[in-house]
Amino acid sequence: MAKVKPFIIGTRNAGEFLHAGAKVLSNGGSAIDAVEASTKLVEANPKDDSVGYGGVPNLLGKVELDASIMDGKTLKTGAVGAVKSYMHVISIARMVMEKTPHVMLVGNGAELFAKSMGFKKQNLLTKESKAAYQSFLTKYANLPKEGEKPWYVNYDVDFGLRGWYDKLTDKQHGTVNIMAIDKNSDICSGVSTSGTAFKFPGRLGDSPIIGAGNYCDNRFGAAACTGRGELAIRLSLARTILSYMENGMTVREACARGMKDINELGEKGGMNCLAMDNKGNTMSASTSRENTHWYMDVDSKAAEQRKGIYIPE
Ligand code: GLY
Repeated sequence: MAKVKPFIIGTRNAGEFLHAGAKVLSNGGSAIDAVEASTKLVEANPKDDSVGYGGVPNLLGKVELDASIMDGKTLKTGAVGAVKSYMHVISIARMVMEKTPHVMLVGNGAELFAKSMGFKKQNLLTKESKAAYQSFLTKYANLPKEGEKPWYVNYDVDFGLRGWYDKLTDKQHGTVNIMAIDKNSDICSGVSTSGTAFKFPGRLGDSPIIGAGNYCDNRFGAAACTGRGELAIRLSLARTILSYMENGMTVREACARGMKDINELGEKGGMNCLAMDNKGNTMSASTSRENTHWYMDVDSKAAEQRKGIYIPE
């Protein structure tokens, strides 16, 4: 198979940050380094309220982050979930992949690991994410008073967490997907998120679950998801999209079929995917909106916006 020119792609919130990964690739670096470099910039962007610093907090007002990274050459992978106070969860996930015999660490254990690897603890709340939390509390001010039963238990079980979930729009479930192929034709895919806005503490979405929110394999390509993570988990969506490619579908057909599978669940919330094959074809798709993704290769001067497909319910 002819070699593909190294390139990197990302979801709509990654466009202005792909240059970091493209630079790694044009200097002959690996797809893993490229994906990590661009994802870190998204994580550090306080304006992105669905990833890293400034992510919308959970039900108790704490930012809780999830991430995963996968190496398509070895099928090694690392993931972290429900991490508080560490911004670069993509790098912690990479350390899990490279330094431990594990695939996933969550909560206190992931934070202990981050600390022991030298990551710096920091407050992830910004003025804006605090304000978003306050306005959420105000809107739901008819919550039971503390003392009756922990309000968040009442809220989860008796009040409308399910209803809230059904009202969530794309804005409340962001996430970044970035994937790249390097000069050795090695593929890497990475996902980082603060998860669903005001989620129940400890809730994991698809992003840290390999096969659900993220998957790559040099033999076929890569696929990753954003949107209501529970739906992607139920369908092992990223791996399923790759399996469609493995079984002969084009990237476009595989993405479309993945979104149709989501629609067949008959649930609200919306799902999006980003995918590439190992020949250089890229695509994104969504069940809830017109969709685009960003592309840069080693000769690009700027990120190019590429149109995806909309597969409405
Ligand atoms: N897709 C991100 C999440 O559900 O957490």
